[in-house]
Amino acid sequence: MQTGSEGEVVAISEVQQQLNPATGETVAIDRKATAQNSKFMSANIKFVKEDREVVAASGANLRFKALENGIDLYTLMGKMMNCGGYGQCGTCVVEVTEGMEHLSPRTEVENRKLKKKPDNYRLACQTLVHGPVSIVTKPSK
Ligand code: FES
Repeated sequence: MQTGSEGEVVAISEVQQQLNPATGETVAIDRKATAQNSKFMSANIKFVKEDREVVAASGANLRFKALENGIDLYTLMGKMMNCGGYGQCGTCVVEVTEGMEHLSPRTEVENRKLKKKPDNYRLACQTLVHGPVSIVTKPSK
């Protein structure tokens, strides 16, 4: 919104025309609305020990976002022997202290690997983030 020359409020159009290659039709896309909607689809990940907060798009992989932002997920053993995010090694374990409801459900792999761990423990490589969460890396239990 902008103020016009006589004080009236003028909306700046952010609607753009885009060609849909599948149908050949022109489609109107409201860039402003798209930007506002994507704001609601972001997920803040707070890494408690590191005192860092990372913004991610909804559905982001927790391991990927951690590594991308220089958060160290692995103990020494994990650094040498991790499976690269395929749910095979169990070394990317994290504790979720807030926002469990904003994560994807535990996978079968996690149910197997985390059988003896508390319910709020997850494998970062198997976890998708859909909203604000607080994460403790390298939990001690
Ligand atoms: S990186 Fe191996 S289980 Fe997550």
